[in-house]
Amino acid sequence: MLIAPSLLSCDFSKFGAEISRMDKAGADYMHLDVMDGHFVPNITFGAPVIKYVRSFTEKPFDVHLMISEPFKYIDDFCDAGADIITFHIESDSDPIKTIEKIKARGVKAGIVIKPKTDAEAVFPYLDKLDMVLVMTVEPGFGGQSFMADMLPKVKALKEEIKRRNLNVLIEADGGISESNIAQCIDAGVDVAVAGTAVFKAENPAEAIANLKK
Ligand code: DX5
Ligand code: ZN
Repeated sequence: MLIAPSLLSCDFSKFGAEISRMDKAGADYMHLDVMDGHFVPNITFGAPVIKYVRSFTEKPFDVHLMISEPFKYIDDFCDAGADIITFHIESDSDPIKTIEKIKARGVKAGIVIKPKTDAEAVFPYLDKLDMVLVMTVEPGFGGQSFMADMLPKVKALKEEIKRRNLNVLIEADGGISESNIAQCIDAGVDVAVAGTAVFKAENPAEAIANLKK
């Protein structure tokens, strides 16, 4: 299991230092939540900010776009140093064109599904993807409760990926903690995003190590 701390819960007055802190604590990826106040009812940060903090770690930047028209902004996030870009299938950009644009830049591409979207919605794109992100909360805010009823979608995706012999990682995002990570692993999650569970812990290194156990 890989752990991707969500920087949404960090102290933004020292964004770079927070990334270094997560690097030292054993994070596998840095999960960066980009929100536009339109696709989701919250606003965070964009590509210029990501570019400023890129030099604080060599770990992969996993950029989760919760924005309308993601296609328009792919180049900006690639230029900023994204290693993985995930965009919502519920957004208004053409999935194939968006995947191709990301991959043409040598960046890994993923599709995200909100709680109300079925796993089958991404099946037609699976052979072109590096990752599928299953939301285990409604996107927009950190600190919400984990929706265990999303796990059957993870299982269905895992089975389909295996059946077609593909190399696609499954990421889960929202409300993940020590109390539910075992269920995530059993369902087939490869990468767990954790905001609150890591940032509100007294010792983030211990929190990450415990999640991995
Ligand atoms: C929610 C974000 C998540 C969130 C995770 O829209 O995509 O990455 O910040 O935070 P926790 O772990 O607190 O749910
Ligand atoms: Zn996220």
